[in-house]
Amino acid sequence: MPGNKRAAALLLAALAAAVSGQSMAADMAAAKAKAGQCFVCHGADGLAKVPDAPNLAGQNEGYLVKALKDYKSGKRENEMMNTMAKNLSDQDIALVAAYFSGIAVTVKAP
Ligand code: HEC
Repeated sequence: MPGNKRAAALLLAALAAAVSGQSMAADMAAAKAKAGQCFVCHGADGLAKVPDAPNLAGQNEGYLVKALKDYKSGKRENEMMNTMAKNLSDQDIALVAAYFSGIAVTVKAP
C-alpha cells in the first residue's frame, strides 16, 4: 500500500533525525569533556580567564585546528600551548575545536 509505505518512510526519516540528533548531543558532550582541560585558561564559555590567554568562543573551527596542530608540531611556539597540545590526538583536536567554535557569540561593534 502506497500510504503505508509513505508513513514508513516518514517514520524512518524521523527516527534517523532523532538518532543523529542524539549522536550530535553525545559528540558535543564528548567535546566538552575533552575541552575541560582548557577551561582554566580559556573558560567553559570560551572567554579567557587569564590575562595572557585569548578568547576562543565562536572562533573558526579550521583556525582552531590549525593553531592546535601548529602548537603540537612546534611550528607555533608558546610554552603553555606547546605543552597542552602535545597531549592532543587529531581526534582530540577535532573535538576541542568543535566545542569552542560551537559556542554561540553575539557581537556589538564599539
Ligand atoms: C595554562 C593556561 C592554558 C591552558 C590550560 C590552555 N591554553 Fe590555550 N592558550 C593559552 C595562552 C597563554 C595562549 C596564547 C599563546 C600564544 O601567544 O601563542 C593560548 C592560545 C591558544 C590558541 C590560539 C588562539 C589564537 O587566537 O590564535 C588556541 C587555539 C588554544 N590556546 C586552545 C587551547 C585548547 C584547545 C586548550 C585545551 C586543550 C588550551 N588552549 C589550554 C593558555 C592556555
